[in-house]
Amino acid sequence: MLIFHASQLLTLAGGPQRGGELGRLGLIPDGALLLRGAEIAAVGTSADLLVAYPQEETLDAGGCVVMPGFVDPHTHALWAGDRSAEFELRLQGKTYLEILAAGGGILSTVRATRSASLDQLIAETRPRLQEMLRYGTTTAEVKTGYGLNLESELRQLEAILALDEAGTLELVPTFLAAHAIPPEFRRDPDGYTTQLCEQGIPALRQFCLAQTARQPGLRPFVDVFCETGAFSLFQSWRILTAAREAGFPLKIHADEFDNLGGASLAVELGAASADHLVKTSTPDIEALGRSNTVAVALPCTPFGLAESEYTPARALLEANAILALATDLNPGTAWCGNMQFVLALACRYLKLTPAQAIAAATINAAAAIGRADRIGSLEPGKQADLLILSVADYRHLGYRFGGNLVRTVIKRGMNVS
Ligand code: NIG
Ligand code: FE
Repeated sequence: MLIFHASQLLTLAGGPQRGGELGRLGLIPDGALLLRGAEIAAVGTSADLLVAYPQEETLDAGGCVVMPGFVDPHTHALWAGDRSAEFELRLQGKTYLEILAAGGGILSTVRATRSASLDQLIAETRPRLQEMLRYGTTTAEVKTGYGLNLESELRQLEAILALDEAGTLELVPTFLAAHAIPPEFRRDPDGYTTQLCEQGIPALRQFCLAQTARQPGLRPFVDVFCETGAFSLFQSWRILTAAREAGFPLKIHADEFDNLGGASLAVELGAASADHLVKTSTPDIEALGRSNTVAVALPCTPFGLAESEYTPARALLEANAILALATDLNPGTAWCGNMQFVLALACRYLKLTPAQAIAAATINAAAAIGRADRIGSLEPGKQADLLILSVADYRHLGYRFGGNLVRTVIKRGMNVS
């Protein structure tokens, strides 16, 4: 299929974009692209490709923007239950960490998720994933982390694999058994840490080996919530080191509310990404800038918590970091799976231009989940995951908010919306 007459074809070609390079859209005016099966075969101008491939079936983009599908590299999309009552408590003055310390927050979702069957978990999550796809996300990372015991964490992982297999939105799993201290270990966080290192990570390995026929080479990311009230820097180091030794790629939640040094730990351990980064110190920002660890900003989270402090994106870019954007979709801080809204927030509160926000939500987001070789840009040989917008100028992304500017979603070469 030949897609032609894109007012602006945003290719995002050339790999992840570091520091001041961010925002290189690889824009081709009146662009076209040729899809063969699930892959992109050629990219160029409409004039050139219509002459070179006269026999192809065509799809007229109608003078609208064509761009890569959004990649959402940080979500907690899989959960049971809801926390609307907590939202009200927060509006009445309770803080997120106070609610967590009182056994609510993540722990209330843990209670609902532990008691949900595999089928219930899948059924509650599927509509959220379908909505993400309609808003233009074609690949999303999804974390476990609402089980906090082995059986329930692995059931969540099983649900993520099943949703990936059965659905259109491609999912990348992350094992986040270190999302909170489970109630059973309330007075013994070190004991839970030891259990994760000595039993959790080996069990995760066994789980992956058992999936060989279904998902050869499955290696979920292992993530830790490094934060006051969750895991200390040393506990995070223990868990991530055990995971790395077992061959898993790493991620970390760092500096959402407090600066514990999680971002520098991520760099030291070669993590794929460090995420949140609100209270990040200058040395941590500099460490990220010297590394390939992607800095993932989640502007829906401070917005969702009605806080005024956001990720210091400009400082990260000045330090030469690779910056990406994600939703953080979760029932506590940010029930939003819409990357277009993330871009709108990023332009206002992270001071990104629309071009920078688009690159951070596509090619750099792909780098945050180790997939920049397959997705995140429109280049020959890459997966045909793309969007046709309803507008002719890409700057409407960021500029407009609250609606949906995606007209058509193409996933692995198939028109899916
Ligand atoms: O990224 N920080 C930890 N996890 C989520 C919140 C999860 C929840 O509240 O359920 C976050 O903000
Ligand atoms: Fe998170």
